[in-house]
Amino acid sequence: MSKKLFVAATGTDIGKTFVAALMVKKLKDAGYNAGYYKAALSGVDTSENETMLCDAYYVNKIAGLNENIKNLVSYVYRKAFSPHLASKSEGNPVEMNKLVQDFNNALLKYDYVTMEGSGGIVCPLRYDHEKIFIEDIIKAFGLPTVIVADSGLGTINHTVLTVEYLKSKSISVKGVILNRYNEHSILHQDNKKMIEEIAKIPIVAEVKDNDKQLNININELLKLYE
Ligand SMILES: Nc1ncnc2c1ncn2[C@@H]1O[C@H](COP(=O)(O)OP(=O)(O)OP(=O)(O)O)[C@@H](O)[C@H]1O
Ligand SMILES: [Mg+2]
Repeated sequence: MSKKLFVAATGTDIGKTFVAALMVKKLKDAGYNAGYYKAALSGVDTSENETMLCDAYYVNKIAGLNENIKNLVSYVYRKAFSPHLASKSEGNPVEMNKLVQDFNNALLKYDYVTMEGSGGIVCPLRYDHEKIFIEDIIKAFGLPTVIVADSGLGTINHTVLTVEYLKSKSISVKGVILNRYNEHSILHQDNKKMIEEIAKIPIVAEVKDNDKQLNININELLKLYE
């Protein structure tokens, strides 16, 4: 049976795509059949070939997946809004059935599927007569999570709140990955220590600016997937 992992973050633009690409690349480089999936992304104009700018395109390229973008992401919205709001003006609201189908297709094809979240952890994907939040997908797919967090000021608060939110929904948090980490920064070093102490979740990797590889033992990376 395929193994899977959800990449959450403390907010939008924190580095989910950057880190997910390195995770998938690491698995592939080690010879594993690894894939990627994202439910919904916003702020991409599909009509003007801007798919080149999207998360799925980036991961496809960095990890060398050679996959059709359509198989990597279920919903793409033009406006840079949360999917629940973008779909109100653009139509095409998120349907749980389609997510399940697309994710299952990824599971059929790949042994390790890394699913990227949208935004932070509280992100409504659909909010009309039907309501779909990120945690509904995590639970429906039975995914453990890893949280990508910034290394700088404010991250203790953001990370601990994200961990506690996931725990309150009975979702497993396997670890935190600190992005844009500077090993010489006293602030970053202390944030790492404090998050581990307060949230009681291990920092499983630190990613520096423009890293080309994920600095984690392959067995530790494999252990994050369930
Ligand atoms: N370690 C890093 N080194 C260099 N650039 C980075 C790093 N982490 C993130 N970035 C850049 O910062 C920007 C935001 O990162 P990214 O797209 O990965 O965030 P995200 O959490 O996936 O955002 P979204 O919520 O839109 O999916 C991107 O331009 C990305 O290339
Ligand atoms: Mg992203």
